[in-house]
Amino acid sequence: MRLSAVILAGGQGTRMKSNLPKVLHSLLGKPMAWYTLEAARQVTHSTPVMVIGHGADQVRQTLGDQAEYVLQQPQLGTGHAVMQAEPLLAGKTDLVLVIYADMPLLTAQTLGNLVEKAQSHTGPVSMVTVTTDETRGFGRILRDTRQQVSGIVEEAQATAEQLNIHELNPGVYCFRATWLWEALKRIQLSPKGEYYLTDLVGMAVAEGTVIQTLNVEDLNEVIGINTRLHLAQAEALLRQRINRDWMLAGVSMIDPSSVYIEPGVTLGQDTILWPGTYLHGNTQIGEGCVIGPNTIIKDTKVGDGCSLLASVLEGALLEEHVEMGPYCHLRKGAHLCKGVHMGNFGEVKNSTLGPGTKMGHFSYLGDTTVGAEANIGAGTITCNYDGTHKYPTEIGEGAFIGSDTMLVAPVKVGAGAKTGAGAVVTKDIPPHSLAVGVPARVIKELKK
Ligand code: UD1
Ligand code: CA
Repeated sequence: MRLSAVILAGGQGTRMKSNLPKVLHSLLGKPMAWYTLEAARQVTHSTPVMVIGHGADQVRQTLGDQAEYVLQQPQLGTGHAVMQAEPLLAGKTDLVLVIYADMPLLTAQTLGNLVEKAQSHTGPVSMVTVTTDETRGFGRILRDTRQQVSGIVEEAQATAEQLNIHELNPGVYCFRATWLWEALKRIQLSPKGEYYLTDLVGMAVAEGTVIQTLNVEDLNEVIGINTRLHLAQAEALLRQRINRDWMLAGVSMIDPSSVYIEPGVTLGQDTILWPGTYLHGNTQIGEGCVIGPNTIIKDTKVGDGCSLLASVLEGALLEEHVEMGPYCHLRKGAHLCKGVHMGNFGEVKNSTLGPGTKMGHFSYLGDTTVGAEANIGAGTITCNYDGTHKYPTEIGEGAFIGSDTMLVAPVKVGAGAKTGAGAVVTKDIPPHSLAVGVPARVIKELKK
């Protein structure tokens, strides 16, 4: 059976008290709607249709080709919202999953179970329900004396007796497409002046069909986000879920509650994460690494067997067995080859450090290429910027840069060359020679 998903994201989200559309609020570095889109895509194997309204341009811009978009203008309720998807989907699908975009913890597993239920019955409506005392303003599921679903009543319209019902509507449905498009047109305006999607349930029952329900047990899955308090709760739960999966995949965490891992990050087996580890964006960590405490890594690839202590890395590449910290900062384009050692207070930007190179104490390298087995002395600085342009520095294999050397770029230090403490290097230094002073002069040839 052909299957498509419609995700409703047209509402304003007034209770967030924000200029940002609700579905764009961030959870672990991704907009809230990303999670629903991802779960829907995994189940339908197609691009979901997203109904947008409030902040439509911004939503479209942020989510890009993750969804196909239809505009709902004005927003006349959830039934009216689904109606907007008909031109895009009519005749192209047999089943339509409808999901509200503010439920980021909903899993593909649950959506898949719902679809299975819909496929194995002929009725036009299958839906998720949840039973809990925490009613959160959700619509109540009405059942008849035979315990069959007979309708949904919105909290605002519910009688005192109906308010005591604890089976709730989280807002996840699977409809037969032909029935859906036709039935949507028959929804009557509610007392609130909206077309309620939930009215379809009562309509299907009136036609003599049976509503299929899937009762989810994990209440967390259907936490709808209406306020920033809910947002923080959802983020904590997502974080727990991700950390749990990585621990089961062979990653150790000394204190999981203080480890922050975004979706999209990957980790190798036997890696240990200490408290205060933050892994952002497109970060890949190899096997057998020790990360943290207090380390922030973003969009960086870290090879096997690295140990990174109290450092910040962004847009960097580390080969195997790199040792770093405490207090290093790697910026965009930093490439540390195998076995590089960086001690405390080092900053590297757009530079390659060759295999086995050591940079032990408070140094800055920018726009620099360093060969293998070089030694960057304490306090070495590349003066790579003259206020207008940036210039490159080259340090050859096995070079020994003396403490407090200033390398005024563009400049080259040859292989095996040395600089004296406090040298200010303004001209290239030939291989295997010693340069000292301000400005630095070659005073001696060195043995190879
Ligand atoms: C809805 C359900 C309620 C359910 C609850 C779960 C209806 C009538 N009621 O109520 O039974 O328990 O969700 O959270 O469906 N949206 C649009 N266009 C609109 C209106 C809403 O796209 O014109 C979108 C919103 O952006 C949101 C979703 O639909 O993602 C739900 O809308 P919301 O206003 O939050 O519905 P509730 O009142 O919470
Ligand atoms: Ca809601």
